[in-house]
Amino acid sequence: MKFQSLSLTFIFLYTFLMPAITHADEGMWIPLLLEKYNEEEMRDMGMKLSAEDIYSINHTSLKDGIVIFGGGCTAELVSDQGLLLTNHHCGYGQIQRHSSLENDYLTDGFWAMDRSEELQNPGLSVTFLISMQDVTGKVLQDVGSNMTEKIRDSIIDSRIEEIVNSITDTSEFLSARVKPFYHGNQYLLFINKVYKDVRLVGAPPSNIGKFGGDTDNWMWPRHTGDFSLFRVYADSNNNPVEYSPDNIPYKPKYYFPISLKGYEPDDFTLVFGYPGSTQQYIPSDAVELLTRVKNPVRIKLRGLKLDVMKRYMEQDDLIRLQYAAKVARVANGWKKWIGENKGIQRLNTIERKKEKEKNFQQWADADPERRKKYGGILAEFSEVYDQLEPLELSRTYLIEGGLGVELLRYAGSFRELVDVSNNDPEKEQVEELTDKFIKRAKNHFKNYQVEIDKEIFVKMIREYYQEIPEEDQPEIFETLRKKYDGNVQEYANDIYDKSFMTSEEDVVDFLDKYKARKYKKIKKDPAFELVTGLYDKYYNDIQPQISDLDAQKDSLQRIYMRAQMTFEPERRFYPDANFTLRVAYGNIGDYYPRDAVRYDYYTTLQGIMEKEDPEVYDYVVEEKLKELYREKDFGRYVDKDGTLHVCFIADNHTSGGNSGSPVINAEGELIGINFDRCWEGTMSDIVFDPDRCRNISLDIRYCLFIIDKFAGATHLVEEMDLVTE
Ligand code: ARG
Ligand code: GLU
Repeated sequence: MKFQSLSLTFIFLYTFLMPAITHADEGMWIPLLLEKYNEEEMRDMGMKLSAEDIYSINHTSLKDGIVIFGGGCTAELVSDQGLLLTNHHCGYGQIQRHSSLENDYLTDGFWAMDRSEELQNPGLSVTFLISMQDVTGKVLQDVGSNMTEKIRDSIIDSRIEEIVNSITDTSEFLSARVKPFYHGNQYLLFINKVYKDVRLVGAPPSNIGKFGGDTDNWMWPRHTGDFSLFRVYADSNNNPVEYSPDNIPYKPKYYFPISLKGYEPDDFTLVFGYPGSTQQYIPSDAVELLTRVKNPVRIKLRGLKLDVMKRYMEQDDLIRLQYAAKVARVANGWKKWIGENKGIQRLNTIERKKEKEKNFQQWADADPERRKKYGGILAEFSEVYDQLEPLELSRTYLIEGGLGVELLRYAGSFRELVDVSNNDPEKEQVEELTDKFIKRAKNHFKNYQVEIDKEIFVKMIREYYQEIPEEDQPEIFETLRKKYDGNVQEYANDIYDKSFMTSEEDVVDFLDKYKARKYKKIKKDPAFELVTGLYDKYYNDIQPQISDLDAQKDSLQRIYMRAQMTFEPERRFYPDANFTLRVAYGNIGDYYPRDAVRYDYYTTLQGIMEKEDPEVYDYVVEEKLKELYREKDFGRYVDKDGTLHVCFIADNHTSGGNSGSPVINAEGELIGINFDRCWEGTMSDIVFDPDRCRNISLDIRYCLFIIDKFAGATHLVEEMDLVTE
C-alpha cells in the first residue's frame, strides 16, 4: 500500500511539475549563458567540459573552431592548417559550379591532392564569432512603456546603429550585428570576423554525399555521407583578405580533435552551431494558421510540382540532371512540412496550447495589475491572426503558385530592363545590361524544359484561380476569366506560344533586336504581363496589410513572451533560434517512430549494400566502396563491434542552419557532423518531443574512411588530430 501511495505521489508530481520544466534535451542555448543555466545539468548528463571550455572571451574555446559557412550552414575547423568540414549539401553550390562535363566533380567527387589543386570560390565566405555581449540596457535605454511601435522601433534602430558603428570603426576586419532575443526582450551584440578566401578541398561523389537522395531525406535509417572539405586562407598576419595565390592557410585559434572511439547509447552529445529559426512560444492561433492554412497549401502545390518534374526525370537522363537540384529544393520543404503537420497533430499541440492559454488567462485576470498588462493579449492575437488568414493564403498562393512557375519568376526578372528603359539609359548601360541578361539566359535555359514548366503553370495557376475567392484575386485573372472562360490550359497555350521568354534563342534575339527601342516591348509580353499583375496585387494590396499586422503581431509576441516567463517563473526558457551560435545537448539513443517499430541509433555500411539498386540513381554504389565492404577493409575507422558505422541519431534540439555543425562527445572531441532531423520529429521548430525528435549526424569515422580508404586523400587525414583512447 505504501509503495502505491508513494508512486501516486510521484505520478502526481511528475505530471504536474514536469511539464513546467524544460526537458534536458530540448533547447538551443546561448553560449554566453551556459554557466548560469546549463553547466550543472550538462555535467549531470555526463559532460566533462566546463562552460568556459565551450565559450569564453578570455581564453581559446570551442567556439573559436566554428564558423557560419556561406549564407546558411555551419562548419568546423579540423586542422591547424585551416581545414574546414561541412555538409555535402552545404558545399553543393560550390561543387556544382566547378563541375563541367569533362570534370564532373558532382558525380565523381573531387580531391585536391595538394594545396595547389584547391579551388577558389568567389562569393563564398566564412564567419568567425569573436564575442557576444548583452547590450539590452543600451538598446532599450530610451524606450518608454507607452510608446507607439513605430517610435519604439526607430529608437531601437538608432541605438543599434550607434553600437555597431562604435565597433566597426575600430577595425576593418570586424563586423558587428545586434540581434533581438526572446522576441525583443533582450539584445545581444555579435562581433564577427569574415574570411573570404575559402577553397574547395574535397567532396565525395554524389552517390556517397547524397546517397538516398530525396527518398531518404529527413528519414531514418539514413546512410548519406553528407560531407565536404574546404580550407580557409588568410594573409601573412592571419587576417582576412580577398583571394590571392599568395595567401596562406589560416591558423585557427582552435580546431577540433577527432575521436575514433565511437559511442554508446545514452552517451552525452553536444551540437554547436547556427540554427536558423524556430517558433516555440507562439499562441495556438498561430499554430492553427500554420498547420491548417499555410502548410496544406504549400504541401499541395509542391506535391503537384514534384509529380510533374519526377515523371519527366524518370524518362530522360538529361532532364534528371537538369532538374536534380530543383527537385531537391522543392522536395526538402515539402517533406518537412508534411512531417511537421503530422507531428503537431499527433502531439495535440493546438489543443494543448489552448489549455495552457486558458490557465494563462485565469492567472492574468486574477490580479488587477496583470490584467491590465496581459489580460487582453490572447484576444488581440486572435483578432490579428483572423485578419492575417486570408492574406497569408494569398501570399502563399503567390509564392508557391504564381512564383512557383519558372517562366513567371524569370519574366519577373525583366522588370529591371523595363525600369532602366523608363529612365533614358546611356548606351553603355544598355549594353552592360544586355550582356548580363544574355548570361542569365544561358544559366536559366541550361536547366530548363519548357514543356515541364508549362504543365506546372497549368496546375499552379488553376489552383491559384480556383482557391482564392474572386474578390481577393489579382485583377489580371480577369483576362483568364473573360477571355478564356477560366480555361487555364488555353491561357497557358497562348502565353507559352507568344512569350519570348520560353527559349534562349528568342530571348537573345529579343535583346539584340530591341536594344534601340529600349525594351518597352517587354511590357507587352504575356508572361511579363501576368507576373506584373501578380506582383501589383501583392505590393499594392496584400503586403501593406500584412506588414501592418506583422508589426502588431511582433509587438504582441514580445509582451506575450515576457508574460509567459512571468507566468511560469520556474521554467527555463531558451530563446527561439535566430541564426546565432547555440548549444544543444542531449544523448545518443534510439526511438520508436510508430506503433511496434523501434529504430536503432546507428547505421552501418551493410545498410548501404542493402539499399543498393544500380537501376535507381540515388542508390547506386561505387565499385570501390563495394570492394572495401567485401574485404572489410575499414582500417582504423572500424567500430569495436567490427562494422563501419555510417550515421547516428541523438536527441539534440537542432534546426535548419545546424547543417554542418560539429557533434562532440563529453570530452569535446568530434564524433560527427550534424546534417538532418528524423521525419517524425520535424515539428521540433514549433514543439519538441523528446521521444521522437532526433537529429541525424554523419559518423566522423565514415567521413574519414571515405577520405582515406575510398579516395586515397590520406594527406588530409594526416593533418587532423585523431584520438583513439
Ligand atoms: N533535410 C536536410 C536539410 O534540411 C538536407 C537537405 C538536402 N538534401 C536533399 N536531399 N534535398 O537541409
Ligand atoms: N539539413 C538542414 C540544414 O541544412 C538541417 C536539418 C534540420 O533542419 O534540422 O540546416
